[in-house]
Amino acid sequence: MKISVTGRIPEEVVSLLRQGHEVEVSVEDRPMDRQRLLASIGDREGLLSMITDRLDQELLDRAPCLKMIANCAVGYDNIDLQAGSARGIPVSNTPGVLTEATADLAFALILATARRVVEGDRRTRTGQFKFFAPFLFLGTEVNGKTLGIVGLGRIGKAVARRARGFDMRVVYHDSRRIEASEEKALDVQYSDLKALLSEADFISLHVPLSPETRHLIGPQELRSMKSTAYLINTSRGPVVDEAALVEALREKRISGAGLDVYEHEPALAPGLTELENVVLLPHVGSATVETRTNMARLAAENLLAGLRGEKPPNCLNWDAITKPK
Ligand code: GLV
Repeated sequence: MKISVTGRIPEEVVSLLRQGHEVEVSVEDRPMDRQRLLASIGDREGLLSMITDRLDQELLDRAPCLKMIANCAVGYDNIDLQAGSARGIPVSNTPGVLTEATADLAFALILATARRVVEGDRRTRTGQFKFFAPFLFLGTEVNGKTLGIVGLGRIGKAVARRARGFDMRVVYHDSRRIEASEEKALDVQYSDLKALLSEADFISLHVPLSPETRHLIGPQELRSMKSTAYLINTSRGPVVDEAALVEALREKRISGAGLDVYEHEPALAPGLTELENVVLLPHVGSATVETRTNMARLAAENLLAGLRGEKPPNCLNWDAITKPK
């Protein structure tokens, strides 16, 4: 069968796909141009996609042969799942394999914002470190503080586990409360969002993007935060109203923010880069050699299963496509 891979993936995974299939793989480490994807999708049976591909009705209408979409990401807000289901196309993601890497990056942003790591690096490399001084670059302590986790799925839980090593108190908010026994094991307390926002010193977002979570953190929520608090976002940019965040940071209504994702990615909200109290990363939550290899392999396994007509292990819409109409 004919497969398109829209981003660069490790050679070993390409070889796996090539066993029995004709594979067109992007060799460039950049998003595939939409026109190119639209022009080439017509005879493809399998698609191994990246989060930068917008897989909408227009694209699916041009893909009459498509039998399976394997998104190489845990998030799948780039895909119109309903449109896929309506055409009988299974869609999969890559949960689990990127949990620890993403939790590490959330923690890296907690530490980097609290201890002004990037700002310190900027000043040092530009020759502005003249002497040690007792009040130079004072940050805030992480140890013993309250961490508010919004979205206690796999990644949120992995962040909670890390927080224990820093003796943090962890409160969480999620649309679904976890079992009391699991709360106890993780040492986390459930909270409504408003209370979490007003008491946490660090707020880390781990929700998927959906109509319910778009602008979950807007002007009002930012106003509920403590002026000493930090906002960390490694989930999806549109979960935060980025213009409102710039205002809050500029007016020092909150202490800082650590961002890996942006509302209009890769564009940044006007004014964001002028602020010192924000650490900005280029969407690298899962970007380790190990994790990206595991994600590509898992996506490939899903794709191959779907092309064999089997249920892909991480299928998101199996019920929708198999239920009698
Ligand atoms: C990355 O953003 C992912 O969803 O895996």
